[in-house]
This record gives sequence, C-alpha cells and structure tokens, in this order.
Amino acid sequence: MRTIPSPDAEQRPRGLAAQALPEQGRFVKEGPSRARIAELAGNSPLLRIDGLVAGYGKMEVLHGIDLQVGAGQSLCLIGPNGAGKSTVLHSIYGFTNIMAGSVTVNGRDITRLDPNEKLRNARIAYILQDNSVFPDMTVEENLWMGGFLMESPAHAKGAAEKVFEHYPRLKERRRQRAGTLSGGERRMLEIARALVMEPQILLVDEPSIGLEPRYIGMVFEVLEDLQRQGKTIVMVEQNAKKGLQFSDIGYVLVSGEIAMAGTGDDLLRDPEVGRLFLGA
Ligand SMILES: Nc1ncnc2c1ncn2[C@@H]1O[C@H](COP(=O)(O)OP(=O)(O)OP(=O)(O)O)[C@@H](O)[C@H]1O
Ligand SMILES: [Mg+2]
Repeated sequence: MRTIPSPDAEQRPRGLAAQALPEQGRFVKEGPSRARIAELAGNSPLLRIDGLVAGYGKMEVLHGIDLQVGAGQSLCLIGPNGAGKSTVLHSIYGFTNIMAGSVTVNGRDITRLDPNEKLRNARIAYILQDNSVFPDMTVEENLWMGGFLMESPAHAKGAAEKVFEHYPRLKERRRQRAGTLSGGERRMLEIARALVMEPQILLVDEPSIGLEPRYIGMVFEVLEDLQRQGKTIVMVEQNAKKGLQFSDIGYVLVSGEIAMAGTGDDLLRDPEVGRLFLGA
C-alpha cells in the first residue's frame, strides 16, 4: 500500500546542467575502505548501510553500497544522472527491491520495514525529488497530511502548529492553496510537512532542483537550521558544490557504486571531482 505520492516517476525534464558527461561515468576509483567510511561518521553511525544490493524488479541498480552517517551529521551524494543516487534514498526508505545487505538505525535492523514503519518507528522522513505538495489543498491542510500516521487528526493538527512556529512564512499563508506558492515556498512546505512527525533522519532528494537562484539560498537556510537542531541529513544534490559546502560528508556515486568518500571539503578540493562534478 502506498500512502504518499509515488517516487517512481522522474518525469521532470532535466536542464542542461543536469546532463551526465560520458567522462563522469568513467570516474572509477577503488572506493573508500570500511574504516574510512566509519571514520567519516565519527565511528558512531546513527544510520548505516552495509553491502546494499538493490534495484527495481529484477534490475540491479546498486551493487554493494556501504554508507555511514553519525547523529547530527549531513551527508551529500553526488554523481552523474542515473548513477543510483535517488535509489539509495529509496532503498533506505523501503521503496526498492533489496536483494542483499542491510540498513540499520542505532544498530537496529530496519531493512524490511515498510515506509510507514520507517516514518513512525525509525523516525526517518523522505522529501522526494518530485514536487509532492497537494496543490488544491491549503498550506495548513498539506501540513496536517504530514501527520497522517498520528493517533488522531487532533494530534496531527497540534504537531502542525508547532512546525508553523518555525516557519512564519508558511504560517502567513496557511489558508492559501499550496499550488499558488512560489517554488521556494513549496519546497519549504515539503520540508515542513516532513517535520510534523518529528523525524531524526531526513532524506532529501535534490532540494534545489527546479528552483530559481534566489530560492536556493532560502531552502539551504532551512536545511542549515534543521542541522543546528541536530537532525541527521542524507541528501542528493545536483548542485554538487552547494551540496558539498553544506555537508560534513560527501560520497561520489558512479554506476551504482561508491567511487569516493571524504569530508565535504575533501571532495571540494579534489581536482578531478572539481572538473567532473563541480563545473570547475
Ligand atoms: N522506479 C523505477 N523503476 C525502474 N527503474 C528505475 C526506477 N527508478 C529509477 N530507475 C533506474 O535506476 C537507475 C538509477 O536511477 P536513479 O533515479 O537512482 O538515478 P539518480 O542518480 O538519482 O539520477 P538523477 O541524477 O537523474 O536523479 C536508472 O537507470 C533509472 O532508470
Ligand atoms: Mg535522482
């Protein structure tokens, strides 16, 4: 049963900047050691992926992914189109066919939990790459939807009010149809809706995609604020420079494998990463 909009359709036309270069696909490295992956997460991972093989139906997209992120850290996945970045997030959340490997939170195996259980019990929320606000509902109704798993609508409304206190810009527009929000406000609403359930881990796919430059900063400010509140963030960002500047940890994913891992700054300083992925 699917209770939130399907992540399957990536129908959004891709801008020129988002086209993969053939050279990017040849960016093959030995990949980081387990020890380095653990070290980047402070040897104390909150979320951990080990040997993940996953895909859709019989098609294998991820061929043995390891990933670790500590509580309160942020991790950004970069890489060419079709590398499997969204599939990593889908797999954490339970939208893919997992053929091998495991996903754990705080040492607890959550690999086989369904998405609702992930949200309710493992406190993981997923902000999808596709625009997922309900355009004909008001801003507040959209926020209430974020609490659909709570015991009662009254609980959801109470939780939504708490979120509104952090987002005056949304609060002012609470009775406005979500379809009339600006791109940046809509993204903010998607993030705010995910916060209604008070997640500890946020999966964010392409927070800045499709946004005008003036709204990109606004969305990253929202993410920075969440980071200050101690949320753990795993994001995918086509604006690789922005994503790596934001994040404690960066991974380069190529053809379903982790080609490289380092601190965000390590990757920003790497000349080859710069040439292939940062438009430098
Ligand atoms: N729901 C699906 N069903 C079947 N195949 C899929 C599905 N979603 C993605 N794929 C395929 O899996 C591969 C990896 O796709 P994925 O969306 O994870 O890439 P990505 O790195 O996020 O790319 P992009 O930068 O374009 O968003 C692609 O070959 C894609 O066609
Ligand atoms: Mg994607």
